[in-house]
Amino acid sequence: MRPIKSSIPWRPRLLVWYRRHARRLPWRTHVNPYRTWISEIMLQQTQVATVEGYFHAFVRKFPTLEVLAGAKEEDVLSIWAGLGYYSRARNLLKAARQLVREGRQIPSEMPELMGMPGVGRYTAAAIASIAYHKPFAVLDGNVARVLSRLFAMTGDMKSAIVQKRLWAAAESCLDHRNPGDWNQAMMELGALVCLPPPELPRCMDCPVRRYCIAWRRGLTRSLPRAVVRRALKKVSIEVVFVEKDRKVLLSRRSSDERLLPGHWALPESRSVTGVRIGKVLRVVRHSITHHDIRLVVREGTARDTRGRLGQGCFWIAEDRLSDLLVSSLWRKAVGLSSGHGRGSV
Ligand code: ADE
Repeated sequence: MRPIKSSIPWRPRLLVWYRRHARRLPWRTHVNPYRTWISEIMLQQTQVATVEGYFHAFVRKFPTLEVLAGAKEEDVLSIWAGLGYYSRARNLLKAARQLVREGRQIPSEMPELMGMPGVGRYTAAAIASIAYHKPFAVLDGNVARVLSRLFAMTGDMKSAIVQKRLWAAAESCLDHRNPGDWNQAMMELGALVCLPPPELPRCMDCPVRRYCIAWRRGLTRSLPRAVVRRALKKVSIEVVFVEKDRKVLLSRRSSDERLLPGHWALPESRSVTGVRIGKVLRVVRHSITHHDIRLVVREGTARDTRGRLGQGCFWIAEDRLSDLLVSSLWRKAVGLSSGHGRGSV
């Protein structure tokens, strides 16, 4: 751990607070570039509490870049089951294979990091700073909220101008001697103290309260300004559950589908042939990205398990369902439990 020294008065206070209050998260207690990369990809769209369990399972099964590069996509997706946003898992595998093929390790420079599939400015800066101690600032939702309050930024957080100001603020505050700890301290303050609505910020526990302009002006509850969320698009899908001789009819969704492309799934009723469609077995509600899905699962009957019964449909042994059906939506549809975490996307 490097010494804390600073010309910005609140920096040392935040770092001291972080070193005392930081959660002991598995990617913090044992740090290497591979673990940082995996954790940051998992944390892109998922909360810390959910990621913890998945992270443990992932690094136990794929402890190094080389092991990951040699894995089957099916096995990576199976560990990812329930975590959502599956393109993240496919990108991890693609990047691992590419790096190993070229005899490289996880890069330490921003341009190479940002050239990896699934890695944008935020994730590249997180990996460079946490794993390689490079002086790059991060800006995620937590950090943006902290900065918007500290500097009382009143504009629309999603607008290009405010985003530019936020990145500039993040860079100007960055502690170049402790960039990894600094970035995680900012995230931690946002996650534990400088809370988003509907919770109230815990300003009395905040180590940098007296430097916070929103606090001084009594604006902490009204900043950052609320952004109007887009309503989820409602989608209704009818699928069929056909079981025969301990096999289930599954279909592979095409790679240009909007929802869950490339996933194994129950076939849609309209796309099966030679199946008698019967009563409703269950109705599943599920939200993914911008969609609110209502999935109606009907019972289907087939005479035997020899034919294909529709384009892209295959008979799959029941004991393989758990490995192949990775999205919580399809797991709920066939009555399987979901994933390694305490919740799922
Ligand atoms: N969110 C994104 N990266 C994180 C990290 N390293 N620690 C905690 N929360 C995070």
